[in-house]
Amino acid sequence: MITTRHALIFLLASLLLALAVALLPWGQVEREWQAYQRAYFASENIVGEVAVRQIIPRLGLDGQPAGEARAELCLTCHIGLEEISPSHPVETFGCVICHGGLGLALDKDQAHTGLRPNPADLSVAPQSCGQNGCHAGHTDPSRNHLEQVTRSLQATYAGSIALVRYTFGAQKDLTPHFGIMGVVDPQPLPQTIPALAAFALTPDSLTAETQFAQNCLEGGCHLTEPATPQPYRYRATGCAACHVLYNDEGLYTGSDPTLPRDEPGHPARHQLTTAIPFSQCNHCHNRGNYSLRGMTFTPRPDLPPTAAPLPATMPPEGRRLREYYQPIGQFTLCEWELDCIDCHTQAEAMGDGHLWPDQKTMQYVQCRTCHGTLSEPPATARITDPNDPALRLARLNGRYSLAVGDEVIVTERGEKLGSVQQRNGQLVQFGKVDGREYNVPLVQGSQCQQQPDQQESRYCHQCHAYER
Ligand code: HEC
Ligand code: HEC
Ligand code: HEC
Ligand code: HEC
Ligand code: HEC
Ligand code: HEC
Ligand code: HEC
Repeated sequence: MITTRHALIFLLASLLLALAVALLPWGQVEREWQAYQRAYFASENIVGEVAVRQIIPRLGLDGQPAGEARAELCLTCHIGLEEISPSHPVETFGCVICHGGLGLALDKDQAHTGLRPNPADLSVAPQSCGQNGCHAGHTDPSRNHLEQVTRSLQATYAGSIALVRYTFGAQKDLTPHFGIMGVVDPQPLPQTIPALAAFALTPDSLTAETQFAQNCLEGGCHLTEPATPQPYRYRATGCAACHVLYNDEGLYTGSDPTLPRDEPGHPARHQLTTAIPFSQCNHCHNRGNYSLRGMTFTPRPDLPPTAAPLPATMPPEGRRLREYYQPIGQFTLCEWELDCIDCHTQAEAMGDGHLWPDQKTMQYVQCRTCHGTLSEPPATARITDPNDPALRLARLNGRYSLAVGDEVIVTERGEKLGSVQQRNGQLVQFGKVDGREYNVPLVQGSQCQQQPDQQESRYCHQCHAYER
C-alpha cells in the first residue's frame, strides 16, 4: 500500500535527484575550451551548443588524390576563427598542414606542441606554404612562390648590404656578395647574380658593418625580421608580411575568442589576400629615412610614433593623402589615388626567382608603362593563353574581370597588367583594392611638355607634383 509518507519520501527523493542532475555541471571544473565557446557565443550574441568541434581535412591539392584523413580539434577552442582564404578552404586544409601542432589534443599546450605560429615565416615556410605542390615544386616557375620570395630583394637586402660595404671600403665594387640569408639561383640571367652568402659579422668586420647590422638589419624592413612593435609598422614576416593584413594599430578584429583584441601585434583577421592595400606595403615602405653616414634611421615626423595619431574624424581621402608618402615626397595624383599593386607587378613585389643586384635594376614599371610618351602610346597586348598568369591574378583578386581576348597593358618584361584594359579606344584602369574605375590619360595628343628621352618620375614631378 502506498501511504502518504511513502509518497512524500518519493517526491523528496525525486526532487533531490533533479537537483543533483541540475547541479552536475557545476560540480565539474569547466574545461578551457568550454569557456572559450561560451565567451564566443556571448560575444556574437548567438545560442550555440558547447561541444567538441572536429574537422577531417580532405587534403587534395592540384587535382592530386586526397591525402589520408586525419581529425583535428583545433576549432574547439579557436571557434569563430575566420577561414584563411577561399583557396585554402578549412574543410580541405584544416589547420595542421600549415601550423603543425597536435590535432587531436584538447589541452592548449599539448595541441600547440611543435606549433608554427606564423607558418609563412621564411624559416618554416618550406614545411608549410612551400610544401611540394603548394607554392613550390611546380614545373611552371611562376607558381614556385617560395623560391621567388626567398631570392627577392625584400628578403635578401643584397643591394643595401653591398652599398654599405662598398661605401666603407669592405669591397671593391657594388656587386653584391651577401644577403640576409645564403641563396643560390641555378639559372641566373646575364644581369643577375648566381649566389649570395649569408651576411654575418666576424672579428674582422668594420665598425660600419656592425652599426649597420645593429641599427638597420635588426628591427629592419626585410622579410625575415620581425616588425618594430610600433603603430603603422605592425606586420608579420615572410609571405604574411604582404598577404595577411595588419591594421595600423596591429589589433585583431575577428571572432576567435582565444585571441586578445587589445594586444597590439596581431593580424586584423585570419585571412590571406592578394588585394594588398598601400597601407600594408607601407608597414615597411615610406616610414622614414636612413642615413648612410650616421647609420641611423629617422622616422617620418608626421605620423605616430613620432607625431600624434590622426584624428578619427579626418575624411578618408585626406587621411590617405597624409598616410601615403612622407612629407618630403613628391608625387602625382595617381601615385596616391592608386594602390602600390595597381602599378607595381607581382614580380617587383615578390621577386621573379632571380637574384637582382639592387632596387634600380629590379624595378622596371615606369610612368610611360601606362601613359606612353609624346611619340608612342603605351604598349598593349591581347590575352591569348588561357594559362596566362594575368587571368589567375584577376580571378584571385575578384575586383575586376578579365578574359581571353582582352587587350591590356604589357610591361617591358612581358607581363600583362590585367587591371589596365583597352575598352572602345579608351584605356581603363580598375583599382585592385577598391575596384574603382579610372580613365588613364595618355601623354600622346595632350599638351604635355615632357622631353621624350626623360622618363624618371623625378622629372615628371617637376611639372606634375601634387601638393599635400
Ligand atoms: C585548449 C584550447 C586550444 C586548443 C585545443 C588549440 N589552441 Fe591554439 N590557442 C589557444 C589560445 C588560448 C591561444 C592564445 C595564445 C595563448 O594563450 O597561448 C592560442 C593561440 C594559437 C596560435 C597563435 C600562437 C601565437 O603564438 O601567436 C596559433 C597559430 C594556434 N593557436 C593554432 C592552433 C592549432 C593549429 C591548434 C590545433 C592543432 C590549436 N591552436 C589548438 C587555445 C587552443
Ligand atoms: C594556408 C595556411 C593556414 C591555414 C590552413 C591556417 N592558418 Fe592560421 N595562420 C596562417 C598565417 C599565415 C597566419 C598569420 C601569422 C601572422 O600574422 O603572424 C596565421 C595565424 C593564425 C593565428 C594567430 C592569429 C593572431 O592573432 O596572432 C591563429 C590562432 C591561427 N592561425 C589558427 C589557425 C587555426 C585554428 C586553423 C585551422 C582552422 C588555421 N589557423 C589554419 C596560416 C594558416
Ligand atoms: C612584398 C610583398 C609580397 C610577399 C612577401 C609575398 N607576396 Fe605573394 N603577391 C604579392 C603581390 C603584390 C601579388 C600580386 C597581386 C596582384 O597584383 O593582384 C602577389 C600574388 C601572389 C599569389 C597569386 C598569384 C599567383 O602567382 O598565383 C600567390 C599565390 C602568392 N602571392 C603567394 C605568395 C607566397 C606563398 C609568398 C611567400 C613565399 C608570398 N606570396 C610573398 C606580394 C607579396
Ligand atoms: C617586410 C617589409 C616589406 C614589405 C611589407 C614590402 N616591402 Fe617592398 N621592399 C622591402 C625591402 C627591404 C626592399 C629592398 C630595398 C633595398 O634593396 O634597398 C623592397 C623593395 C621594393 C621594390 C623595389 C625593388 C624590387 O624588388 O622591385 C618595390 C617595387 C617594392 N618593394 C614594392 C613593394 C610593394 C608593392 C609592397 C606591398 C605589396 C611591398 N613592397 C611590401 C621591404 C618590404
Ligand atoms: C601610379 C603608379 C605607382 C604607384 C601607385 C606606386 N608606385 Fe612605386 N614606382 C612607380 C614608378 C613609375 C617607379 C619608377 C620610378 C622612376 O621612374 O623614377 C616607382 C618606383 C618605386 C620604387 C623604387 C624606388 C627606387 O629608389 O629605385 C619602390 C621601392 C616603390 N616604387 C615602391 C612603391 C610602394 C611601396 C608604393 C605604395 C606605397 C608605390 N611604389 C606606389 C609607380 C608607382
Ligand atoms: C598602372 C598605371 C599607371 C602608372 C604606372 C602611372 N599612372 Fe598616372 N595615371 C593613371 C591613372 C589611372 C590616372 C587617372 C587618375 C584619375 O583620373 O583620378 C593617372 C593620371 C595621371 C595624370 C593626370 C592627373 C593629374 O595629376 O593631373 C598624370 C600627370 C600622371 N598620371 C602622371 C604619372 C606619373 C608621373 C607616373 C610615374 C610616376 C604615372 N602617372 C604612373 C595610371 C598610371
Ligand atoms: C615641363 C613640364 C612637364 C613635364 C616635365 C612633364 N609634363 Fe606632362 N604635362 C604637362 C602639361 C602642361 C600638360 C597638359 C596639362 C593639361 O592639359 O591640363 C601635361 C599633360 C600630361 C598628361 C595628360 C594629362 C591629362 O589629364 O590629359 C600626362 C598623362 C602627363 N602629362 C604625363 C607626364 C609624364 C609621365 C611625365 C614624365 C615622363 C610628364 N608628364 C612630364 C607638363 C609637363
